Amino acid sequence: MKTPVMIALDFESVEELQSFLKQFPSHLKLTVKIGMELFYGQGPQIVRNLRQKGHAVFLDLKLHDIPNTVEKAMFQLGKLGIQYTTVHALGGKPMIQAAKRGLMAGARAAQVPVPKLLAVTELTSISERQLQEEQNVPLKMNEQVQKLAQLAENAGADGVICSPHEVAQLKPALPADFLYVTPGIRMPDAKKDDQQRVMTPAEAQKAGSSALVVGRPITKAADPVVAYQRIVESMQD
Ligand code: C5P
Repeated sequence: MKTPVMIALDFESVEELQSFLKQFPSHLKLTVKIGMELFYGQGPQIVRNLRQKGHAVFLDLKLHDIPNTVEKAMFQLGKLGIQYTTVHALGGKPMIQAAKRGLMAGARAAQVPVPKLLAVTELTSISERQLQEEQNVPLKMNEQVQKLAQLAENAGADGVICSPHEVAQLKPALPADFLYVTPGIRMPDAKKDDQQRVMTPAEAQKAGSSALVVGRPITKAADPVVAYQRIVESMQD
């Protein structure tokens, strides 16, 4: 089965987002990732509009606060009818559990499916040196990522955001249905932008990614629809 592609819509304005989406035939239902910039600028209405058009929404807000605050925030997000959202695993087990509770209660209140809760482990912008000198973590980055993924799973998260290069290492210690949502995807002939370690869609599929997050290779393409289709078609059925 082809690995689902989530399009990262890292646009500044709702106009840019709309003119991007207008290029796709309306029967094509996409999964789109909305981040802090659009959500803080436009509010939940942007999510409601995308849902009304039939798109699945990954609302990537990376919550990290005390459990009570996160639970209440997740209650609000759970009502939106989104499919995925995120927390920082570094917020700890009670916070991740609270996030899940909030999502479940919100979804129940609005009678919509419960969104999948994905955990961010260490940000890819954090270096090995920062991990040790700023966060005072005496582990190697890959060990820390592994520990945080297990913590997240143990607390009820449905998956993690990680590099496709990390999936093989993470899988053995986690349940079979745990999700690995992987950015850092580029076609073989494409430029890498600011991504350091990339994989092609077919490689990421083989590595065990549950879903691919792809932004600029689609949003900045001369023909985004063709770029999206090329990515989908480059994977095995
Ligand atoms: O344009 P590009 O395909 O690089 O976009 C990837 C998306 O995934 C962006 O929204 C980026 O913020 C996000 N992301 C990432 N690396 C991570 C976590 C999230 O590229 N480790």
